[in-house]
Amino acid sequence: MRNLLSAADLDRDAALAILDTAQRMHDVQTREVKKLPPLRGRTIVNLFFEDSTRTRSSFEIAGKWLSADVINVSAKGSSVSKGESLRDTVLTVAAMGVDALVVRHNASGAVARIAGWVDCAIVNAGDGTHEHPTQALLDAYALRARLGDLADRHVVIVGDITHSRVARSNVLLLRTLGARVTIVAPPTLMPSGVHAWPCDTSWDLDAVLSGKAHGDVDAVMMLRVQRERMSGGYFPSEREYAAGYGLSPERVDLLGDDVPILHPGPMNRGLEISSVAADDLGRSLVLDQVQAGVAVRMAVLYRLLSGGPEAVAE
Ligand code: NCD
Repeated sequence: MRNLLSAADLDRDAALAILDTAQRMHDVQTREVKKLPPLRGRTIVNLFFEDSTRTRSSFEIAGKWLSADVINVSAKGSSVSKGESLRDTVLTVAAMGVDALVVRHNASGAVARIAGWVDCAIVNAGDGTHEHPTQALLDAYALRARLGDLADRHVVIVGDITHSRVARSNVLLLRTLGARVTIVAPPTLMPSGVHAWPCDTSWDLDAVLSGKAHGDVDAVMMLRVQRERMSGGYFPSEREYAAGYGLSPERVDLLGDDVPILHPGPMNRGLEISSVAADDLGRSLVLDQVQAGVAVRMAVLYRLLSGGPEAVAE
């Protein structure tokens, strides 16, 4: 595997190989000295054309713990703000002898285009409303740590599905891992073409969470309302959105005792998720997801830069 552009690039064996490697990488996180040598002498550039806190910093930490040299280039402060084209910027960075580019861009499909222009490994760190495969991998990692094998588990994904690259990558990867997915959103935030996705859909959050609509729920993933991608009125008011689709304390009570709650962050507290849900020590996996992000990104970089699947299986 040369690039990771989509969750669909991974079959079940490849996904499990990354998750198993991530498990071993996770052990490094608990050591006092966190460096491993395998990517010594390799150069990774984080090329981010869109804002990011956890994705960019966890890719940086992941590369550094594998002993790679990691450079961050953000659109602000780069020649992009002087009018340079995407292609020229990418070719310029790649010409410096880069082994991997980790790219985030606000246009869906931009990262796949970039992969056609350069020879180095490309990792999609989020392209528009399309995909975010390492987020899906870290979510799967956090879910497996809590639930074990995901085969036949029922995961409910709730919120602004239309604008969410996280939802699309998660539906694809969870299906690959044998889980069953139901997505819940108001009609205006349910993407057109969703009938072709390998999942069930619903507009009724209470019916789904209580298990009445699509069967018992094993995990709930809340997604951010992505106001920066919205041009018009997708819902009447924030209060109405929270009433219909927010994970309120009352809705947490609809869930079975051990059902974990996930959110990729950043969270809009009081809108899609209440603080009671986000901070529920027994259920919330929000910080587990962040921690898994480093291990999973170490595993992905290791797999892409230090050989094929055999290297991962070592
Ligand atoms: C997500 C993203 O950027 O797509 N966040 C993340 O990577 N942790 C989701 C979001 O922005 O809501």
